[in-house]
Amino acid sequence: MDSISIAIDGPAAAGKSTVAKQIAKRLGIIYIDTGAMYRALTFQVLQEDIDPEDEKAVMEILNKIDIRLVQQEDGQHVLIDDRDVTEAIRYPDVTASVSAIAKHSAVRKNMVSAQQDLAKDHSVVMDGRDIGSQVLPDADVKIFLIASVSERAKRRFEENKQKGIPADLHTLEKEIERRDDLDSTREVSPLVKAEDAIELDTTSLSIDDVTEKILEICQPFIKKL
Ligand code: DC
Repeated sequence: MDSISIAIDGPAAAGKSTVAKQIAKRLGIIYIDTGAMYRALTFQVLQEDIDPEDEKAVMEILNKIDIRLVQQEDGQHVLIDDRDVTEAIRYPDVTASVSAIAKHSAVRKNMVSAQQDLAKDHSVVMDGRDIGSQVLPDADVKIFLIASVSERAKRRFEENKQKGIPADLHTLEKEIERRDDLDSTREVSPLVKAEDAIELDTTSLSIDDVTEKILEICQPFIKKL
């Protein structure tokens, strides 16, 4: 085997993207943030004043835009056509509507297929909600990260503060609970732990500890690279 695929799933703000980025850097492989793709579509839907619940109208938007994840020196950038929306997709209005967009089956079908294409013929670490269950069911390593709601809200609070995004801890907790509920109860590919995924509770672990643990789990596959 000459490539490795790593799927990292879990609820909102469990540390998936930070850990996935570190793993990608350590292994010199590509990181794909699938949530950013749903966020980019949500951003465009809101820009065009479309109702996120209107699947047909949302699909019309998805079919006319090009969402790209581009690796640059300072990390992954998200582009809609040629517009850089990397920061805009993290704002609270996008976060509040993204679960409504991500529940549409036509949207998911399109996104899953685009994500499978991105992973084709590459070593990747991909994070999301359905990577181990739908996007990369044959991934070499499947991780399911969990952490308490209060810990996740605290982490998101610090992250937002650093990015200059306005945040309030209590509101973040409520938002995370609401998204967990929407993402886990939707009909199409809800957030579930794949049967063969390894669950890691990161509540009392540092991001570096989690990265090291996952790298250990990946070790047998890395040796074959
Ligand atoms: O990981 P994130 O918070 O940036 O993801 C934003 C939303 O996108 C999340 O609330 C659920 C949805 N999502 C999804 O349904 N499937 C994925 N693979 C990734 C994200």
